[in-house]
This record gives sequence, structure tokens and C-alpha cells, in this order.
Amino acid sequence: MKRVAILISGGGSNMLALVRDMVGDHPARPILVASNDPEASGLARAAALGMPVAAVDHRPFGKDRAAFEAALLAPLLAAEPDIICLAGFMRVLTPGFVQRFAGRMLNIHPSLLPKYPGLHTHARALAAGDTEAGCTVHEVTADLDAGPILGQARVPVLPGDDEASLAARVLAQEHRLYPAVLRRFAAGDRTPVLLP
Ligand code: GAR
Repeated sequence: MKRVAILISGGGSNMLALVRDMVGDHPARPILVASNDPEASGLARAAALGMPVAAVDHRPFGKDRAAFEAALLAPLLAAEPDIICLAGFMRVLTPGFVQRFAGRMLNIHPSLLPKYPGLHTHARALAAGDTEAGCTVHEVTADLDAGPILGQARVPVLPGDDEASLAARVLAQEHRLYPAVLRRFAAGDRTPVLLP
């Protein structure tokens, strides 16, 4: 059974989708939910499910990413994860941190990568006049949002869409895609999951 730690920064809806899926014959189990924001509402939601949680506030570390990561590593390594899932985790990680978990750290990103790495993906898709949007689960490498793609789900951009309506349509697909990818990845299969 693979042990999965999930890193969040916000509401944690993707984290919940992952935790809820890791039951029964799933090849993995969630062992820790950690956040860089002690106020992240996802932490309370995880605790309510009985999950062990940890918070390491990044703000006291200022621009010193390595020092923040060293503090985050303490609860993370203590939990002995096999796989780390970034699920709305909004801190850029240093190459050193990424290297430590090479080949076993996943991220979900709200665009059809390689389009729109970084922030404001939905606004950028709308501004470009795209007719299609979506989300991507990829392996985390030192290059931001550029690791090998492990799954994608597509949605239409509809007339009248704004950032919020498009984000909601994509998020619903994130909740299908990420559990499907993790299930396959934890079983040792890296074949991309393509939805729908
Ligand atoms: C999700 O849409 C996720 O794809 C995005 O943040 C949201 C988190 O929602 N992640 C990124 O933008 C990463 N750069 P959640 O906390 O409800 O899962």
C-alpha cells in the first residue's frame, strides 16, 4: 500500500476528492494533509475526516524558500510518504525539494498544459478566445508546471463564460481526473489518463 501525503493551500476540494477515493482496493492511502497556510479551510476539512494534518506557515520565512521547505520537511518526512500530491498548493518549490521526491510528486494544474503554466489560467484562456479549456495532472520537476503529463481532462469554453464559471467547470473535472491519475500512478502505471 502506497502512502500519500497531500499538500494544499486553500479549500482543498481536490484533496477531498483524493482522500475519498483512497478506500477499498485503491493501491494507496492518505497519511497526511499539510499546508503552508494555517488558516487554509482544507486543513479543517481534512481533520474532520480524521486525517492527520500539519501546518507550516511560509510567511515567517520571507523569501527564504529553502528554510520554509526545511520546516515543511519535518512533518512530511515523519509521515514517510511514498507519493506526494500537490493539490492547490500555491508555493513554488526549489529544485532541491523537488529532487528529493523525484518521480513521486504529482501536481494538478488548471489548464491544458503546456498552455498557461503559472497563474490566472482561466483569464488567459478567455482572453485568448480559446474554445476549450481543462486541467492537467503532471509529475513535478524543477521546471514550473512542465513535468511529464500523467492525465488531462477537457471542457468547452461556453459563450458568456467568465473566470468563475470556467473555473467551476474545470474544477469539477479536476475532481474526476486527479483521483483517476493517482489510482493508476500508485499502481505503477504512468500511462496518461485522458478524460472524458
Ligand atoms: C485548483 O483549481 C487547482 O488546479 C489550482 O488551485 C485550485 C485549488 O482548489 N492549482 C493551481 O493553480 C496550482 N498552480 P482546491 O483547493 O479546492 O483543490
